[in-house]
Amino acid sequence: MPETLISGRFAGKRALVTGGTQGMGAAILRRLLAEGAQVATTARAAPPPGLVPSLFVQADVSTAAGVRSVVEAVTARFGGLDLLVNVVGGSAAPSGGFAALDDEIWQGELALNLFPAVRFDRAFLPGMIARGAGAVLHISSIQARLPLPEATLAYAAAKAALTTYSKGLSKEVGPKGVRVNTISPGFIETAAATRLIERLATRAGTDAAEARLGLMRSLGGIPIGRPGLPEEVAALAAFLLSAEAASIHGADYVIDGGTVPVV
Ligand SMILES: NC(=O)c1ccc[n+]([C@@H]2O[C@H](COP(=O)([O-])OP(=O)(O)OC[C@H]3O[C@@H](n4cnc5c(N)ncnc54)[C@H](OP(=O)(O)O)[C@@H]3O)[C@@H](O)[C@H]2O)c1
Repeated sequence: MPETLISGRFAGKRALVTGGTQGMGAAILRRLLAEGAQVATTARAAPPPGLVPSLFVQADVSTAAGVRSVVEAVTARFGGLDLLVNVVGGSAAPSGGFAALDDEIWQGELALNLFPAVRFDRAFLPGMIARGAGAVLHISSIQARLPLPEATLAYAAAKAALTTYSKGLSKEVGPKGVRVNTISPGFIETAAATRLIERLATRAGTDAAEARLGLMRSLGGIPIGRPGLPEEVAALAAFLLSAEAASIHGADYVIDGGTVPVV
């Protein structure tokens, strides 16, 4: 398809991409802006130089108050949303298996990986339903089906809850014109992941290529031989949000270079 035909796919659309200042969120934000959408984002720290969203709201969206402040600012500026991409997530849990995960850590993982999406959806879906149109994406993880026990069990369980919630939500709102889908990335080499690889290499006295391979091995290998790229996830997200994906609903798209070893 000629570039001119897809460059305005989201012209006139109002979008919120949470966590759009780094990693996959920033790639999705750039992609939606490039294709004509007005895109708001939120993070705890300001966007890096060169990344200019239509609206930036500084907030910690792991809290109800943080989500509320974003909802108020986005509603004041845009009036509502056509596209909602819930990206914020991650894990800060210590290693040491199940016994190292106390209640506070479990609650923190749920607060970051499940509740922001639940709260943003609850705020913006009524407007989409009233207009009979909208598209929602949840960024989950292959850990929802391939949980790693050493440090990320609570994260994996929170992502599984997000994926299941997304499916249930799709059944309720699909008949009302709103599409809901999930993307489950495998190892995606964001700038933060590259920094981690460099730290691991320094600590082990090897180079980045060896450290990257070590991380890939810890997942059981990646058949395509490399991690994914944020821009590859952004391309999938843009497709799923677009009218071309009008009959894709309640689906979970894995983007992992073949990491998940079963169908
Ligand atoms: N990278 C991977 O390999 C991978 C694999 C599977 C799934 N995922 C999932 O994909 C999503 C994006 O991951 P990523 O690696 O691209 O993330 P990232 O590079 O760590 O960026 C995270 C973004 O979310 C923001 N953020 C984090 N905590 C926040 C909070 N409490 N309130 C508001 N904003 C917050 C960050 O900005 P501030 O720090 O300034 O707040 C940043 O913009 C996450 O849900 C992650 O779980 C990642």
